[in-house]
Amino acid sequence: MNPKLRRPLVAGNWKMHGSRGEAGRLVGGLLAGAAGAGAAEVVICPAFVHLADVGRQLAGSPIALGAQDVCAEEPGAHTGEVAAAMLADIGCRYVIVGHSERRALYGEDDALVARKFLAARRHGLVPVLCVGETLAERDGGATAAVVLRQLDAALAAAGAGAFEQAVVAYEPVWAIGTGRTATPEQAQEVHALIRGRIGEKDARISASLRVLYGGSVKAGNALELFSMPDVDGGLIGGASLQAGEFLAICRAAGG
Ligand code: 13P
Repeated sequence: MNPKLRRPLVAGNWKMHGSRGEAGRLVGGLLAGAAGAGAAEVVICPAFVHLADVGRQLAGSPIALGAQDVCAEEPGAHTGEVAAAMLADIGCRYVIVGHSERRALYGEDDALVARKFLAARRHGLVPVLCVGETLAERDGGATAAVVLRQLDAALAAAGAGAFEQAVVAYEPVWAIGTGRTATPEQAQEVHALIRGRIGEKDARISASLRVLYGGSVKAGNALELFSMPDVDGGLIGGASLQAGEFLAICRAAGG
């Protein structure tokens, strides 16, 4: 593995999976194996209803808690939403914003995602900003334009300084849940583009920014992806639901 300036990060996005019992057993399995998880920072992002339980289980462990989404607004009359202040209050450190499933299935646009990014930062949460192109966009040669448009929305709203406490996740939509992973070279090309964009504004922050890859990461392909110079870990969906598989991915990132 290449020596890196940045501590690798592996985040498990459980999506809308898991009963209370299943969540408890999965966390139990992760805690049992966490000592051997290596040097990477590890985060798990359960559904909202499990955050408090999982947070209690993780207390005192090296595994951090994250949420999968956040409301852009401050606490108030927003039925069904969850505020950044609430997530911070129950011990979340990270929150995913702009996941492609939120963009595609729930109509979230770049402007809303940027407002969610800002809400997270206002309350001391580290946003994990997801960007990525669809297959049609890649085939049409629009990958760079799409990824930079998504990144620029948050950059314009929050400024480069906000990325000192933020993470970017490149998740090509065609690789999510499909078993079709980006090649290490495809991932590296886009990761370098993302880092370069931040670097146009602030070289120091760009050098410390962690850019994660997401999309069909498994224990078997993690090492070759994480060995690329600008890939600083992963955002893991399906494989984060199995303790052994997820811990193996964490070990691949931690070197
Ligand atoms: P998979 O790892 O299941 O492809 O999901 C990736 C993802 O969407 C993580 O946010």
